Amino acid sequence: MERLVEIEKFDSQESDSELSLRPDAWSEYIGQEQIKKNLGVFIEASKKRDEALDHVLFYGPPGLGKTTLALIIANEMNANIKVTAAPMIEKSGDLAAILTNLEEGDILFIDEIHRLSPAVEEILYSSMEDFRIDIIIGSGPAAQTVKIDLPRFTLIGATTRAGMLSNPLRDRFGMSFRMNFYSSDELSQIISQASNKLDKEIIKDAAFEIAKRSRGTPRIALRLLRRVRDFADVANELDIKHSRTKFALDELGINSLGFDEMDIKLLKLLASAKGRAMGLSTIAASLSEDEGTVEDVLEPYLLANGYLERTAKGRRATRSTYDVLNIDFINENGTLF
Ligand SMILES: Nc1ncnc2c1ncn2[C@@H]1O[C@H](COP(=O)(O)OP(=O)(O)O)[C@@H](O)[C@H]1O
Ligand SMILES: [Mg+2]
Repeated sequence: MERLVEIEKFDSQESDSELSLRPDAWSEYIGQEQIKKNLGVFIEASKKRDEALDHVLFYGPPGLGKTTLALIIANEMNANIKVTAAPMIEKSGDLAAILTNLEEGDILFIDEIHRLSPAVEEILYSSMEDFRIDIIIGSGPAAQTVKIDLPRFTLIGATTRAGMLSNPLRDRFGMSFRMNFYSSDELSQIISQASNKLDKEIIKDAAFEIAKRSRGTPRIALRLLRRVRDFADVANELDIKHSRTKFALDELGINSLGFDEMDIKLLKLLASAKGRAMGLSTIAASLSEDEGTVEDVLEPYLLANGYLERTAKGRRATRSTYDVLNIDFINENGTLF
């Protein structure tokens, strides 16, 4: 079975269905109020001055609306946007070609920007600051450096791992925003709005039920909405009811907190350490996942909600871990945790 709560690590190739539900205006972008407020001010200011917007960085777990924000900014600025992802920019020549094709005021969106090679990164940050690049033409003693002026463009970068950006690159962003997980109320609104677009009414309680089980993540909420809608359609129901939703989510194996198999595996693993901390590499090996996926995809939600904690020695189960697994914990000294 498809793992429904799984979040793709790299979402540059998004499905058409996801694109059709993507908000293109502020009014449809729910939540992240602080980010919207700040960005609104900076956008208005740069429009007033008739200048390109300063470079922007969005970071945070997948599915929280980074790409969507980039597209809304382009819309607000009335700017062209060129969308690419770091793995597609292999050589400095690839980046040079992209940069020299930009026009004044254009936006360049680079997804997974932490994956740029050091050589490409270097060209990028010098172009961000000076709007100029040095290209080497030819090789050996005949090689020549040519300076090319670039138009004033805005770079929007998105990453799940801000910590992996080099300092010089990070410093070139005039604004950087950390995305937050969404509350169940916010996710409910996103679900109802999407349901409208899909031409299928959803009862309020049903939207909230999906929201509660979506790990604070709009992409997961929308994916679950689609599956639940399938159940309603098959049952010939005109709207999406609460009972049908609960039934569908249970059938799909989505537990009441939205944890999927992987989450539960991770929590059980931590619980088995009986109060001791476990290192990231041990966790990754036990789950047969790479460390990056554990750190960027699995952990953030659990961490933000107190289901695990990070210590100097590694990750550790919390009281909530034992509660959610419904097990008692007796530590090495024989005391109930
Ligand atoms: N704040 C939001 N309001 C409404 N829909 C959202 C919001 N954030 C994300 N979405 C929806 O969730 C999906 C995933 O968002 P996306 O921008 O691709 O996430 P990211 O780039 O951070 O991985 C998109 O289809 C978008 O429609
Ligand atoms: Mg994205």
